[in-house]
Amino acid sequence: MTGQQLINVPDVRTAVPGPKSISILEDQKKYETSTIAYTDSFPFAVKSAKGSVITDVDDNTFIDWMTGISVLNLGYDEGIIQAVKDQMEKSWHSLEIPTEARIRFLKKFSESFPSEMKNYRTMFGISGADAVETAVNIAHSVGGSRNSTITFEGAYHGVSGGIVSATAGTKYRRTSYSQGFSVVRVPYPYPLWYDRDVSHILSDLRKIMVDHESGYEVPDSLLVEPIQGEGGYIVPPDGFLRAIREFCDQYDLSMIVDEVQSGMGRTGKMWAFEHEGIIPDIVCASKSVGGGIPISAIYYRDDYDRKLPKPFHMGTYRANPLGLAAGAYVLETVPRYLPRVEKDGKKLVSAFKEIESELILDVRGKGFMIGVELGKKGEPLSSERMMKIKHSLLNHGLMMHTCGHFGNVFRYMGALNIPDELNNKGMGIFRNALRTEGANEK
Ligand SMILES: Cc1ncc(COP(=O)(O)O)c(C=O)c1O
Repeated sequence: MTGQQLINVPDVRTAVPGPKSISILEDQKKYETSTIAYTDSFPFAVKSAKGSVITDVDDNTFIDWMTGISVLNLGYDEGIIQAVKDQMEKSWHSLEIPTEARIRFLKKFSESFPSEMKNYRTMFGISGADAVETAVNIAHSVGGSRNSTITFEGAYHGVSGGIVSATAGTKYRRTSYSQGFSVVRVPYPYPLWYDRDVSHILSDLRKIMVDHESGYEVPDSLLVEPIQGEGGYIVPPDGFLRAIREFCDQYDLSMIVDEVQSGMGRTGKMWAFEHEGIIPDIVCASKSVGGGIPISAIYYRDDYDRKLPKPFHMGTYRANPLGLAAGAYVLETVPRYLPRVEKDGKKLVSAFKEIESELILDVRGKGFMIGVELGKKGEPLSSERMMKIKHSLLNHGLMMHTCGHFGNVFRYMGALNIPDELNNKGMGIFRNALRTEGANEK
């Protein structure tokens, strides 16, 4: 969108939902499962989307600080439309039989990793959960007789199949009954709420490996998010991933890094683990890796590959050519924005910190993965008040979502190419919403 077109964005002329949205939402309620939840937070129907602007069916426009939960790292981008259109003209399903788009994606995906990983292999999946689950399966297949995985409190790795065992929140696990994996869970560093620092966590980890009376299955792998996503945009202290890498080396564990949310440039590096200069054994990618078309990819060591049976992973829809074409474009384009994301991410963190509001407990983040945690010491802001703020943001034209152990973290996940103007306007809307809600307390 041009600067001229952005002058009137956001523009919310009706109550949200407006009359046309209400009618569509009513139809949705009639036919679709009553268990969907996003429409509680964002009650409108989408007419169209361009760049970082979403227009609803009542012609209200919203600034998108949500990017479909970090799926649209380049927003609704013209280049993605073109890549998908071009591929659509050729073919849109081909199982594992190669297309030019597949090879282009494979080369670019491989080039996006540090040179030490250039011999790694790519295995495709469909979703984030599928990728992480398959990564754990790879680790178990090469891990000898051990077959459990270390995972962290507050982790989110998906809810399908077996990987739900590695996800921490009971709300996610209580309706998933196929809990296939054995996991050992340890705290993630979260100093705002818990005093287990990295040295405590390492000592817990060592105990698991050496104390065979601990009651845990001995793990063959460790699964970690470089920055916790759904857990609350929690940035661990510098050196955490390096310490985890050393621990994995010492006990011969496969280190699996889940970059489903933090990857593809979101933190100002292509992959968030690069901030720590470590080399993982297995990396899981999804969300933005297909530019919004569902694909996922696992990047893993070549020597692991030689130990896997053939076939290994199945799934009719893996590596959809449309996703691969879009993904190749995203992989090619994202590096251009990395310096901007690193620089502007810092400015955004400062701007969030400068907001004078007693509701703000903590601001943290890297690049465009920023969390603003609300509440008082020892008392997270209630879910009712979080929802009230979310709706107030929406009514003023800003889509912003929440996450966190206690659901009290607003997260900034703007597109890496979002115009400055929309960041500035969004910040103004967020500031005002916090001031208004803060004033309600007095
Ligand atoms: C870090 C991480 N891993 C895995 C997943 C699961 O991805 P999907 O929802 O595509 O299954 C998510 C989803 O938010 C995630 O944030």
